[in-house]
Amino acid sequence: MNLIFLGPPGAGKGTQAKVLEQRFGYRQVSTGDILRANVREGTPLGVEAKGYMDSGKLVPDELIIRMMEPVLDAAGDVILDGFPRTTTQAEALDELLRRKRKSAAAVLFAVDPSVLTERLTGRWTHAASGRTYHVRHNPPKLPGIDDQTGEPLIQRPDDKEETIRTRLAEYDALTAPLIAYYDDPADPRLVSVDALAPIDDVTAQLTKLVSGNVSRNGAA
Ligand code: AP5
Repeated sequence: MNLIFLGPPGAGKGTQAKVLEQRFGYRQVSTGDILRANVREGTPLGVEAKGYMDSGKLVPDELIIRMMEPVLDAAGDVILDGFPRTTTQAEALDELLRRKRKSAAAVLFAVDPSVLTERLTGRWTHAASGRTYHVRHNPPKLPGIDDQTGEPLIQRPDDKEETIRTRLAEYDALTAPLIAYYDDPADPRLVSVDALAPIDDVTAQLTKLVSGNVSRNGAA
C-alpha cells in the first residue's frame, strides 16, 4: 500500500518518512526534496520553482504533476511526502494510480499549529539527503554536523518566520481541504496520527498502522 503523508509544514512528515523507509523498505518521495535538488542543479524546473518556494507559495500544479508521473512508474511502495497538496493534484494522483493499478491511503499528521513555527525555525537539514534534525527535539551528535556523513547541516531558506507564515496560509487555503477529500464517506481512505506527540511516539503509532496494513476504509 502506498502512503500519502498529509499535514502542515513542520508536522513531522519528512522525519517519519525517513524512519519508515529504513524500517519497512518504503521509498520516500518528497516533492520538496526533489524541487530543492532541481534548484541546486539549476534545471529549468528548479529555476521556475525557486521563486515560489522562496516566498512560501506552492509551485503550480502542472509543474508538480509532470514531475511526479515518472516517479510513480517505479516499482515498490512509496511514501508521498508533500504530494498531493491541492485538489487538482489529488485528482491527478487518483488518475495516475488508476492507470497504474495502484492504491494509496492518506495519513494525516494531526498537530496543533502553535508548535509549527518553533519546529521549523529550530530545524537543521542535511541538504543532500533531506535528513532533518532539531536543536531541541532531535539534535545531531555534534552541533551543525550530519550524524551519518559528517557534512555540515544547513537551515532551509524558507524556514524564516515570515515565509513560514505564508506556507501555513497556503496549507490552510489549498492543502487542508484534502482532509475531506480523503475522508469522503463514500470512499474513506484517511487515518490520522497524533503528531503533537514526541518523535518516537509518532513512529510507534505509524509502525502500528503499517504493521496492521492501512486499509482503504481508514482502519489499521
Ligand atoms: P516541503 O519540503 O514539502 O516542505 P513542507 O511541507 O513545508 O514540509 P516540511 O519539510 O517543512 O515539514 P515536515 O512535515 O516534513 O517536517 P519535518 O519532519 O522536517 O515543501 C517546500 C516547498 O516546496 C513548498 O513550500 C512549495 O513551495 C514546494 N512544494 C513541495 N511540494 C509541493 C507540491 N506538491 N505542490 C506545490 N508546491 C510544492 O519536521 C520539522 C522539524 O520538527 C524538524 O526539525 C524535526 O526534527 C522536528 N520534529 C518532527 N517531528 C517532531 C515531533 N513529533 N516533536 C518535536 N519535533 C519534531
